[in-house]
Amino acid sequence: MLQQLKELDTDKTKAKHGLAAGDAGRPARADWTIDQGWDAYTDAEHGVWKTLFERQSKLLPGRACDEFVEGMRNLPIGADEIPDFRRLSDVLMKKTGWQVVAVPGLVPDEVFFEHLAHRRFPAGHFIRKPHELDYLEEPDVFHDVFGHVPMLMNPAIADYIQAYGEGGLRAQRLGVLDKLARVYWYTVEFGLLKQADGLRIYGAGIASSFTETVFSLDDASPNRIGFDLERVMRTNYRIDDFQESYFVIDNLEQLLELAKIDFAPLYERIAEQPDLQPGTVLASDTVLASGNGRYHDAKRAGARA
Ligand SMILES: [Fe+2]
Repeated sequence: MLQQLKELDTDKTKAKHGLAAGDAGRPARADWTIDQGWDAYTDAEHGVWKTLFERQSKLLPGRACDEFVEGMRNLPIGADEIPDFRRLSDVLMKKTGWQVVAVPGLVPDEVFFEHLAHRRFPAGHFIRKPHELDYLEEPDVFHDVFGHVPMLMNPAIADYIQAYGEGGLRAQRLGVLDKLARVYWYTVEFGLLKQADGLRIYGAGIASSFTETVFSLDDASPNRIGFDLERVMRTNYRIDDFQESYFVIDNLEQLLELAKIDFAPLYERIAEQPDLQPGTVLASDTVLASGNGRYHDAKRAGARA
């Protein structure tokens, strides 16, 4: 989903569909699912998973939210091998009615939303190469399973993502998918939440990233701003780097409230307002931490040099 949204934000008039390589890789099934082919994973591929898993597992205690930790604990996900989607689905189904289905990579938006609306999470079946542990062109099994699936064990997130799938199909018909995609981006992918003992990660894009886990919580550069739906719908995001602003919810139930909102009037209201740049802070924002912006400023200066 990461790359899918990246493409949306760079090309709002024509959302790209299909695999990066084109429709040549389109699988036979209409819903784009394939068999995970678990038996075909090599030792080297399981080894990449192990490296990523162990690295993230050391980093996340005290940084990931309690719900993520609990979800992970109750799933058949371990260090030694890439998880088997059938075993994951057995546990998920009992808990929140979700399943994990394998896809070869990017899928068309309407296929993606259709899956979510029916509580099927499409997960890339491949794993990144050992030399690109921190770089990812397309979401792989580590991002999709390690990052997303633990949160799908939580009933609030489970309902929210299903509602997002339904909302995505509507937004597509209305031609406002870029606005809705920002909500997904700043919650499911890059969301932070307040816990009694401090800010915690619940977004999969952060939880599955070694570098962004530290940046999002510990670095002085990014803004951390209280989540406001309309504000987020107007906010562009960074497509190929750390976020300049993270939006913070009070708890996961807040997302469930979002799922009940009729977005149609919001889309109309927002259409009349300008988009906001990723690093912008408004006077009306609830600012939890005002970032010094140094990280992205340095990047921009480097790009100009
Ligand atoms: Fe994702």
